[in-house]
Amino acid sequence: MEKSLVLVKPDAVARGLSGTIVSRLENTGLKLIALKMLHMSQALAERHYAPHKERPFFNNLIKFITSGPIVAAVFEGDNAVSTIRTAMGATDPAKADAGSIRRDFGLDIEHNAVHGSDSVQTAEHEISLFFGENELMNYVRK
Ligand code: RTP
Ligand code: MG
Repeated sequence: MEKSLVLVKPDAVARGLSGTIVSRLENTGLKLIALKMLHMSQALAERHYAPHKERPFFNNLIKFITSGPIVAAVFEGDNAVSTIRTAMGATDPAKADAGSIRRDFGLDIEHNAVHGSDSVQTAEHEISLFFGENELMNYVRK
């Protein structure tokens, strides 16, 4: 079954939006199978965002994602990756569709409230950075 990693980023946690964002994603019908709060280390942030290492915004991105606690979650279900990307909206909140999480809660392109895996393969890798196999729950979503 398809899975995706979600991070509620420090800007959103600090504004008390963790529950709201997890709730929006649960409302898509996907199954929440893992959830934790953590403060990402520099090393974890660099591994998670390694594909962006050469981008001009990389240092800012690492500084921001390690600036405060985040909420990490795994959702499972048909088309989990694209369902979450649609619910999140475009990277730049100003360009995100009305009703999307980033449009409603993102501050700017860097402080955009939420992360979601961009492919099934990326998701598998990202989930393994944050969760052990025994932390992924198995139950029937009703
Ligand atoms: P994410 O990985 O966080 O879900 O976001 P995304 O796929 O929509 O965007 P991506 O291209 O993967 O970029 C990762 C994060 O880097 C920051 N960013 N800053 N200053 C900039 O031009 C810029 N572009 C991207 C954002 O925090 C983005 O979510
Ligand atoms: Mg991305």
